[in-house]
Amino acid sequence: EQIEKGGYDHFMLKEIYEQPSVIKDTYRGRLHANEGIIQMAGVEDNLERILNADRIIIVACGTSWHAGLVAEYVIEEFTRIPVEVEYASEFRYRNPIISNKDVVIAISQSGETADTMAAIKLAKEHGAFVFGVCNVVGSSISRETHAGAYTHAGPEIGVASTKAFTTQITVLTMIALRLAKAKGTLSHSDFQMYLQELEIIPEKVKEALETNDKAKEIAAVFKDAPNCLYLGRGYNFPVALEGALKLKEISYIHAEGYPAAEMKHGPIALIDEQMPVIVIAPKQGHYDKIVSNIQEIKSRSGKIIAVVTKGDTQVRDLADYVIEIPETSDALSPLITTIPLQLLSYHIAVMRGCNVDQPRNLAKSVTVE
Ligand code: G6P
Repeated sequence: EQIEKGGYDHFMLKEIYEQPSVIKDTYRGRLHANEGIIQMAGVEDNLERILNADRIIIVACGTSWHAGLVAEYVIEEFTRIPVEVEYASEFRYRNPIISNKDVVIAISQSGETADTMAAIKLAKEHGAFVFGVCNVVGSSISRETHAGAYTHAGPEIGVASTKAFTTQITVLTMIALRLAKAKGTLSHSDFQMYLQELEIIPEKVKEALETNDKAKEIAAVFKDAPNCLYLGRGYNFPVALEGALKLKEISYIHAEGYPAAEMKHGPIALIDEQMPVIVIAPKQGHYDKIVSNIQEIKSRSGKIIAVVTKGDTQVRDLADYVIEIPETSDALSPLITTIPLQLLSYHIAVMRGCNVDQPRNLAKSVTVE
């Protein structure tokens, strides 16, 4: 097992550090930025069917559902195709409206999640076209779907999903870009910009991993907190949800993720000088809005840990702790902002003496209801 961990203390940490290389594996042979080409066999073979969709319904569970939420923002922005994201467990039992004009994207690391599988079967019965985004090659879901694209993240052993999440986002972003190219919904220059940005994302993820020491320092301060709040807006709202999920999964600290502006409709009541609030505040995307959210937290004495773009000064003046990440476009930022949050949960869990790779009551793959 020590050898399999490749010198890291835990599989989770190893998998966090694998992200620059597995994201590259995910786009290898599919993304050719200089030629302006993006292609995935499963999409090419079914391009017309997908383009003609009235809407796209994404079904998934857990972290994969969070990747689905990121995809909703990206696909709608790039392609203008309406997207809905559903918990597979809700979708399967609520007699959903599905037609043969719908395209369903099922996201699953393991490819074995029972609820996601049931949602796929239901969608197929109603004539929808079902596209899988799985990590495990030859898994049940990859076989049950009409077509799909693998994430190529390699085996993920840590129960808390890390590299599966970022590679799912990579695949889904590539799908959005491919559809946008066919539909002409992105300008040529924007399309090129995203391709180039995606190609250098692994380098930026590597740079984001350099926040490890800072994450460890912050973890030492907040490791005994009973609660934690994560806030983000736009593309980084799902990252806030995922950050909170990571923390509760492995450290057993109660954590909630919220869209930053929704804070005033509830969670703000919880804020006092004991409450750590992690705010994802990159320079791109609703920056001024998030700065005013941070001011609201500060005026209630909350402890602010902000994830900011390198060189940021405005948030730095307000926050108690800042974690600096490299700049990228708004739509691709979840691939970067999520990295320090993974590291923060990891270090908090280790400092609390938790079983990081196998947290209590959780399973890597949930094959029963
Ligand atoms: C379990 C795992 C999570 C995962 C979820 C969905 O709860 O512990 O890490 O996100 O199942 O799994 P899937 O394999 O379908 O992505």
